[in-house]
Amino acid sequence: MAQYETIRHDVLIIGAGGAGLRGAVEAAARGASVGVVSKSLLGKAHTVMAEGGVAAALGNVDDRDNWRVHFADTMRGGQYVNNWRMAELHAKEAPDRVRELEAWGAVFDRTPDGRILQRNFGGHRYPRLAHVGDRTGLEMIRTLQDHAIFERISFYMEFTIISLLKDGNRVVGALGYQREKGLFFVFQAKAVVLATGGLGRAYKITSNSWECTGDGIALACDAGAELQDMEFVQFHPTGMVWPPSVAGILVTEGVRGEGGVLRNGLGRRFLFDDIPPLYKDQTADNEEEGWRYTQGDKSARRPPELLTRDHVARCIVREVREGRGSPHGGVFLDIAWIKQKIPNAEKHIRTKLPSMYDQFLKLADLDITKEPMEVGPTTHYLMGGVRVDGDSQMSSLPGLFAAGECAAGLHGANRLGGNSLSDLLVFGQRAGEYAARFAKDASLAPVSESAVGESIRQVLAPFENGAKGRGESPYRVQAELQDMMQELVGIVRVEDEMVRALDGIQKLKERSRNLRVEGNRMYNAGWHTAIDVRNLLTMSEAICRGAIERRESRGAHYRVDYPEKSEKFAKVNTVLHKGEDGAFKLRLEPIKEMPAELKQIIEEMK
Ligand code: FUM
Repeated sequence: MAQYETIRHDVLIIGAGGAGLRGAVEAAARGASVGVVSKSLLGKAHTVMAEGGVAAALGNVDDRDNWRVHFADTMRGGQYVNNWRMAELHAKEAPDRVRELEAWGAVFDRTPDGRILQRNFGGHRYPRLAHVGDRTGLEMIRTLQDHAIFERISFYMEFTIISLLKDGNRVVGALGYQREKGLFFVFQAKAVVLATGGLGRAYKITSNSWECTGDGIALACDAGAELQDMEFVQFHPTGMVWPPSVAGILVTEGVRGEGGVLRNGLGRRFLFDDIPPLYKDQTADNEEEGWRYTQGDKSARRPPELLTRDHVARCIVREVREGRGSPHGGVFLDIAWIKQKIPNAEKHIRTKLPSMYDQFLKLADLDITKEPMEVGPTTHYLMGGVRVDGDSQMSSLPGLFAAGECAAGLHGANRLGGNSLSDLLVFGQRAGEYAARFAKDASLAPVSESAVGESIRQVLAPFENGAKGRGESPYRVQAELQDMMQELVGIVRVEDEMVRALDGIQKLKERSRNLRVEGNRMYNAGWHTAIDVRNLLTMSEAICRGAIERRESRGAHYRVDYPEKSEKFAKVNTVLHKGEDGAFKLRLEPIKEMPAELKQIIEEMK
């Protein structure tokens, strides 16, 4: 018999980033007993890496902004395969969620007349990102944690969830282990909310921290839930490229929002050479005009550095591949040039971009107030994830909810910067509300001893190999997977490379059945990696399958063999689930017809 302790809650939240914390606060405020499981220590969630701001149409800097413009921008950025209901709710509710955060103590930067200041970001028609310098995610987490303390929420830090537990089709809890002592715990719950973030660690170059191994999405998938649009992986245009030890670390879009420009190795602002027709009306066609806008001119024309991330990332790749890159394989991002335009520019840069200033000084020995940075694309965000109902965030399995990056829909084929933090707030709140409501009408269900026993047996198997000195290193399998995904399923894709990746994943899956872990269960990093590898393989396979099936280029998914958008794929989501045999099944699911009033908004904004 496997040994474990049992813990009971009405609502179990897996993940302690912005979505998890906001969901926990909501469910607790509605009277539910709430447990939050966190893979790392509280306060270290990856949300802190969303630096530049939270998008909400407050209209504080440009009063022409409102939810309708935000909705249209989000749909256009997502190339219209978004869940339009989520885009509508998000645009309508984000301002209230931001004001609420302010009321709970978040200290946003201010306009001269004392309102929340908003900055420019790519794809947003007006300055829309409420921010705290370049530490917005950190301030959000701090505020939510402070607030959560008053809601009597139980936190389980440094716990990893291994599997979801079901009663029939309903999700009724989860099995996890505590990393410190390696002990097992069964969490029985009336409702479970996944808020585990993304899967950047499937790639070699990523802005994501070690926790981002797609755990919640893989858990949902293994439990039989549907996934959606897994092919849409966002590569943020600006990560560090030098020195190699820090490659991939995020360089916030806030740098471009504050006037930073991108130049190739020849000193040319190459983004002026390729402005997509979709954005021609919004984009400056000379440097002077672009600059005026970043200075707050109320025209809606912006510098091309603020085109959407998918486009900017591809242009950088083009410059590098065609031999016009920087010495270390990126391009130059220059914020120091604003000295030519504004007084006290150095102080301005250090005040508005303090983390970037420190990051480059400490990690690259470079003063960004004086010299340009070298930057290149980095795996940043998953637009796909668990398929959910737009209003309630419930997945295809009763009792299982998902919010934030691990849920699909809001962002379609490409997310606009800053829409991630507002996503966490809006849909974290909704997931918490609907999970609490579900829990009210449900009772705790029995947990299957045999399912728990089998899960424990599987995760302990690598120790047997370790004891016998045989088997594969989980680190090696993980590294090979990351190299392969980076090379074959990256920014520019083609069928035969993705088929090779799929074949490589099958081979790595075979090898991963025979992983080796040495030592005991206490703080065993090799063991943790063995569990991460299982999830990363499931995620990588899902990305490949979606990417092979979507035979077109849309948003972040760019295929050289199908470089145009296709009518066939314009109105469908790719939906994946695991069948009884454990193999993925994929279907193209038509997107529900948009109501006339939303269609009209999009038409008007065009
Ligand atoms: O560039 C950034 O600060 C990232 C923000 C985001 O991904 O939303």
